[in-house]
Amino acid sequence: MNLFMHKSFFIKIALILPFIGLSQNLIINTTNRNTTTLNGTWHYIVDPYQTGYYNYRHQPYDQLPENNNAAFYNNYHAKNKMELVEYNFDTSPTLLVPGDWNSQKEKLFYYEGTIWYKKSFDYNLPNKKRLFLYFGAINYKAEVYLNGKKLGTHIGGFTPFNFEITSIVKPVGNYLVVKVDNTRHKDAVPTTNTDWWNYGGITRDVKLIEEPLTFIQDYNIQLKKNDKNSINGYVKLNKGSKSEKVIISIPELKIEKQLTTDKDGKVKFEIKSKKIKYWNPKNPKLYDVSIKTDYQTLKDQIGFRTIETKESNILLNGKSIFLRGISIHEENPMRGSRAYSTDDALVALNWAKELGCNYVRLAHYPHNEHMLKLADKIGMMVWEEIPVYWTIDFNNKNTLQNAENQLSEAITRDKNRASIIIWSMANETPPSKARNNFIKNLINLTKSIDSTRLISAALEKHNSNGVNIVDDEIGKYLDIVAFNQYTGWYGGSLEDAPNAKWNIKFNKPVVISEFGGGALQGLHGTAKERWTEEYQEYLYQQNIKMIEKIPNIRGMSPWILADFRSPKRVLPGIQDGWNRKGLISNGGVKKKAFFTLKDFYKKIKKQYN
Ligand code: GCU
Repeated sequence: MNLFMHKSFFIKIALILPFIGLSQNLIINTTNRNTTTLNGTWHYIVDPYQTGYYNYRHQPYDQLPENNNAAFYNNYHAKNKMELVEYNFDTSPTLLVPGDWNSQKEKLFYYEGTIWYKKSFDYNLPNKKRLFLYFGAINYKAEVYLNGKKLGTHIGGFTPFNFEITSIVKPVGNYLVVKVDNTRHKDAVPTTNTDWWNYGGITRDVKLIEEPLTFIQDYNIQLKKNDKNSINGYVKLNKGSKSEKVIISIPELKIEKQLTTDKDGKVKFEIKSKKIKYWNPKNPKLYDVSIKTDYQTLKDQIGFRTIETKESNILLNGKSIFLRGISIHEENPMRGSRAYSTDDALVALNWAKELGCNYVRLAHYPHNEHMLKLADKIGMMVWEEIPVYWTIDFNNKNTLQNAENQLSEAITRDKNRASIIIWSMANETPPSKARNNFIKNLINLTKSIDSTRLISAALEKHNSNGVNIVDDEIGKYLDIVAFNQYTGWYGGSLEDAPNAKWNIKFNKPVVISEFGGGALQGLHGTAKERWTEEYQEYLYQQNIKMIEKIPNIRGMSPWILADFRSPKRVLPGIQDGWNRKGLISNGGVKKKAFFTLKDFYKKIKKQYN
């Protein structure tokens, strides 16, 4: 079966590093656009030997001369039945999308490798309209084919991407095939070793987005840095070949700003207003914003606030705050699977509210967009991070490009969310020259895209002569010095904790990005017995007494809101594949330490109001 395109096309496509370029075509705010969902049941084929992708000489079909048989994605409609076809999508079983495969099929619980997905759909694209295929995320590598044509490749398990399919889509019988491979690799981001479950699959929403020939692809509408009476940013049109009219309206502020794009379809703006009600956790004010062109009106709900540091203080709208936080993985603990919906986000953020939080650390990767939109709405500040976690291949330029692309996609998607106050570059990465350069590159990229938010990373402390020391070189480049410490769990005495000595080498705000210990919910005993709720409760009591005394302490995000799956946690009868540091069990039951932290947050809130 022909590959429909000249072989040189495939060779070129294959050689371009798969993660270049997608982020600058990313369409933002997809929930407010003209979309058709492709969520639902998709057929799937498990393909551990990637038989659908490589021929018997292990050559990728989509890079072979045209007269070669194509793979799963192509000879789906084999022209003549004489061709040897040894698979059939339509008689294959189905998986739900969005969703990881591990939790949907017993046989796929530990599966790491390739699974092919297939979805058929009809679409009548009106004249003078364009159509895009959008994925909220696929973990980890995706190869996407539509009607036998390769659309492209995406690498990175937690950020969105889209392809234009205007010239390929048909009114009836489109067949969309996606090769998903969640195999871990040393040079990937994250690398092979993580303390969370490697959920594979099309793990977030899939949708078709219909747009006019010239459409609003991207925009930034936020408070100008260091000027709380100015709203500024840009609007970028796709295929805005000539000067296009753009109107930004914020009716409640009586703003109606008419702009004209440049030859590339982009326009920057600045709008003064002295009437802005600033977003904050107690009053999470969101404004209805609309962006109008001659061809469409796009709406968004945007909050305006300032966030900065001044010596040891974190200032939200000029007021010193304490980040009453908790760390959260993107998992619905009761379902034991990837979280992906507004309902899942409500479960997590309502628990955080109950705890008395004004802040969450979304670990260890960008969470789905529903989480950020809900955080905006209910008033929860957010630390967002990319999975530059532990022993990343810091000397590998492709690894850096991969991390930069994931960071760029995350910031592109979320830069209009008032709730996000911190972009974090890394978690517990071992200091070295290569690692420092890698992270400095990420910091520079972040500032080049969004200079308005604070930058941090979860560092580590070390101990010398009984003193806890934080002197990681990259602390110099961070706005907030954050670090993980596990006194009383991975060493250190709980009894002595309240008198622990600390030496933090930076006069900046300090946030404890992780502390905690494990407990099996319902296991009771003395405060000296590991894994009991009483031990975890005592650990929190003693750590809080210690942390309160740390100079410049301005927040914490204890590890972690709820028990979560990890292949590293195998203690029978206690962990059974779960990391038990949650304050809430995977049955949704609060442990005693939940209330210890809740009481502390009640107390500290009074000190800062
Ligand atoms: C580390 C790491 C977490 C991990 C936790 C633990 O600090 O950042 O991802 O789950 O410790 O050991 O439970």
